[in-house]
Amino acid sequence: MTKVSTHEIDIVKSKNTKIHDVDFDNLTFGRVFTDHMFYCDYIDGEWQQPKIEPYGPMSIDPSARVFHYGQAVFEGMKAYKDDHGDVFLFRPDENFARINKSAKRLAIPEFPKNYFFEGLTTLLNLDKAWVKSGEGNSLYIRPFVIATDSAIAAAPSDNYRFMIICSPAKAYYKGTVKVLIAEEYSRSANGGVGFAKAAGNYAAQFYPTSLAQNKGFQQVIWTDADTHTFLEEAGTMNVFFRIGDTLITAPTSDRILDGVTRKSLIQLADDNAIKCEVRPIKVQEIVEASKNGSLKEIFGAGTAAVISPISDFEYQNTIYNLPEINEHSYSSILKQKMLNIQHNLAEDKHGWRYEI
Ligand code: COI
Repeated sequence: MTKVSTHEIDIVKSKNTKIHDVDFDNLTFGRVFTDHMFYCDYIDGEWQQPKIEPYGPMSIDPSARVFHYGQAVFEGMKAYKDDHGDVFLFRPDENFARINKSAKRLAIPEFPKNYFFEGLTTLLNLDKAWVKSGEGNSLYIRPFVIATDSAIAAAPSDNYRFMIICSPAKAYYKGTVKVLIAEEYSRSANGGVGFAKAAGNYAAQFYPTSLAQNKGFQQVIWTDADTHTFLEEAGTMNVFFRIGDTLITAPTSDRILDGVTRKSLIQLADDNAIKCEVRPIKVQEIVEASKNGSLKEIFGAGTAAVISPISDFEYQNTIYNLPEINEHSYSSILKQKMLNIQHNLAEDKHGWRYEI
């Protein structure tokens, strides 16, 4: 994609780096942050001078509306380093478009494109050493916006802070994932905010997910709120089902996140002559397919999760096992194709890499 012209950012560099304290082989997702953070305040109807400062706590008034009404949206992106030390983002234009789509739904003002790209590029150049090369390594990037008004009336804020923080990351899930299919709780509803990366979408899943975790499952696959009969998404990832030789994934809607990994896999499936249907899929269809042996794979797809194969699912108190994955599994093939593009090891025919 094309580069965006830069504006000036006020930069205060960190006097020392924390990088030598980090065990990059044993990272827990989202616990360690790089040396710098980017932020830009929205005051009096305008985005102000963007800044980069050493990463650290900041002072916010206890009445800030984000604390009371959850007026906040975020993104998840990753940077990858190739064997020559060059750093790339993957489809950052998609994340830029989506954060503003989410922002609009939460009555948050749009963030300017040049600030977004200039902030990312400058921050990543400062913290480049934190992006490790090699498959499985990446720097997870978290842009987010919070409502900062000191006022607790239930109304949109007048002031906001846009920020970018970064955390070195391996895959979110280690190994395969066991999932529970939702029969009682719901993640989103028609006309709601399910399509947006709204902070509260995630908080609302914590309790039902913890109930699933107590039963030995890592995640829930959410179903439609009206009938609990259609499979939707897994909250931290979109979901793909392979029946026979066909992949199936639910269409995006105002209940389902338009995942960047999801849309990339649909394209990569097409590029590699793997049939992929984007259509509503019923729980009953995968139960039947599991019973007759045609359900070959289920996997989750997301920026943090990458591609996470599912080993078992539970529905109506019955556990269904998936066959073990191997190098011919669609999840293995598509994951390798995507990682090769992300790490600059394969031709980028769709122009998805963005060099920093
Ligand atoms: C991402 O994949 O970036 C996500 O947003 C998932 C996150 C909640 C861990």
